[in-house]
Amino acid sequence: MIPAYIPNPAAALLGGGTPVDFGRCAKDGRRILGDGKTWRGLIGGIIVGIIFGLIQIFLVDYFQLDFLPKQTIITVCALATGALLGDMVKSYFKRRLGKDRGAKWPIADMYDMVIGSLVLMTLTLLVTGNIGWFAENFHSVGFLIATFIAILILSPLLHRGTNIIGYLLGLKDVPW
Ligand code: CTP
Ligand code: MG
Repeated sequence: MIPAYIPNPAAALLGGGTPVDFGRCAKDGRRILGDGKTWRGLIGGIIVGIIFGLIQIFLVDYFQLDFLPKQTIITVCALATGALLGDMVKSYFKRRLGKDRGAKWPIADMYDMVIGSLVLMTLTLLVTGNIGWFAENFHSVGFLIATFIAILILSPLLHRGTNIIGYLLGLKDVPW
């Protein structure tokens, strides 16, 4: 999940400038996505996520960490892109619910990038004919389910942890 977890904090560091929605509002009069989603954050975050994924591919190979599921160019690119697409889909619905940029929306804020990254990765593997990746990397359904549960538990902890660190470092206005 490294390529999925890196893009959001990277976007927080690199973001700013032109918003993805170009400042436009939806029919409800509220911003489509808001100023928290910028092109620089989106593109920069995806690129940094992919770079971390490529480093992960290299390290897993170099140190022969064969017990880990093997990232490929496809999984790395899809996980990084899906994470920030999920984040934007979340912001779209957050605005529709009348929540301002940066407002707290607990479950959604924590799982947006998990859902976005895993959905896009699965779709990309399907469309490119590589869905066998799951069977090759998860030797049993039990291992796949255990991994998924680990992701469900780890994600909110990492999300909250990095946001508190970002807040203490003055990089984020709120600790969530
Ligand atoms: N960011 C960005 N572009 C993105 C995603 C994030 O520039 N595509 C930056 C913004 O500066 C944003 C910060 O990263 O404020 C933190 O991201 P996030 O918590 O996802 O955004 P919020 O400001 O909380 O906005 P929202 O309420 O829409 O989630
Ligand atoms: Mg936020």
